[in-house]
Amino acid sequence: MRIGHVSVAHPITLAPMEEHTNPPFRLLMKQHGASLVCGERIDACDVAKRDRRAMRLLSTTPGERPSVGQISGRDPHEMSEAAKIVEAEGFSIVDLNFECPIRRLIGRGEGGALMADPTAIAKIVESVVKAVSIPVTLKIRSGPDGENETAPEIARLAEKAGAAAVDVHARSVAQSYVGGPDWSVVTRVKQAVSIPVLGSGGIREATDTVRFLKETGADGVAIGRGCLGNPWIFQQARSLVLGGAAIAPPSPTERARVLLTLVEGEFDYYGNHLALKRLPRTSCYFAKFLTDFAGFRTAVQQVKNFADFRRLVRDHFNSASPQSVVDTTN
Ligand SMILES: Cc1cc2nc3c(=O)[nH]c(=O)nc-3n(C[C@H](O)[C@H](O)[C@H](O)COP(=O)(O)O)c2cc1C
Repeated sequence: MRIGHVSVAHPITLAPMEEHTNPPFRLLMKQHGASLVCGERIDACDVAKRDRRAMRLLSTTPGERPSVGQISGRDPHEMSEAAKIVEAEGFSIVDLNFECPIRRLIGRGEGGALMADPTAIAKIVESVVKAVSIPVTLKIRSGPDGENETAPEIARLAEKAGAAAVDVHARSVAQSYVGGPDWSVVTRVKQAVSIPVLGSGGIREATDTVRFLKETGADGVAIGRGCLGNPWIFQQARSLVLGGAAIAPPSPTERARVLLTLVEGEFDYYGNHLALKRLPRTSCYFAKFLTDFAGFRTAVQQVKNFADFRRLVRDHFNSASPQSVVDTTN
């Protein structure tokens, strides 16, 4: 797939997730087979004024390229200024978020609120396309709610305005993250435009990606919650989609090794204090694939530093056995 001048090796990509898709996480997903990785949504107004937190979120390394930086906002000028900074920071693509359902954003008429205003989206896309030389993409939902499917019209207008690809989260804004996605909207968007269409929603196992691409006709699929604690889903999905063999799940020792790599990266990126705060959540996603999850969850609360954590992970992951995961992410 090509997104503007950016070549994307295969259809299996990482969806942006606030609080998750930080630089060490993205690099790990890339190393495990994601073809394209996207950073979390950042307010364009914060980027435009180079707010410290926003700029840290906007950091990227050459190892994760091609990479996507995502911004949200509703003012075309501010979005364009922020997009220039995304480009200058080294991202390969700038993605405009018109899908976020959080109340704070909806209240400001940003993110998912714009799914009810296709013309406003087109104006923003047009302005940003003029401002940067990297490809401009957009992330949308099916529509503001179940009754109004605006995604195909928005995709058509955005293509006209110069967008290089569109990524559809197959739920409405009103649905937030609850309930099953309706993949058929991705097919309708695909039929409406000739730029690449990617989609996401409800991918939990590698086999889901094959089904998604076949059923929707999309050019790519973005994996969200399905990769939390399970970066191996990318190589498993890539192999299946490219016609290869099924790849077995990793051993507990390999799970431990990869978790330690991720957490070490988070200590470097966030510093001790913040990385320690994030530790229980980050590591529990990995531990849920093994027996005695409750024991691990209690023990990780006591961890005081990275050396403690390494000891806990090695002990626990070496003695626990694989277990099938009950899906608790919906
Ligand atoms: C915790 C979390 C944070 C998310 N943050 C973003 C975000 O910053 N930008 C965005 O476009 N989508 C965001 N999404 C949506 C995902 O990119 C993706 O479209 C969605 O999770 C797909 O559904 P799935 O998790 O059921 O596979 C987020 C999703 C979750 C679960």
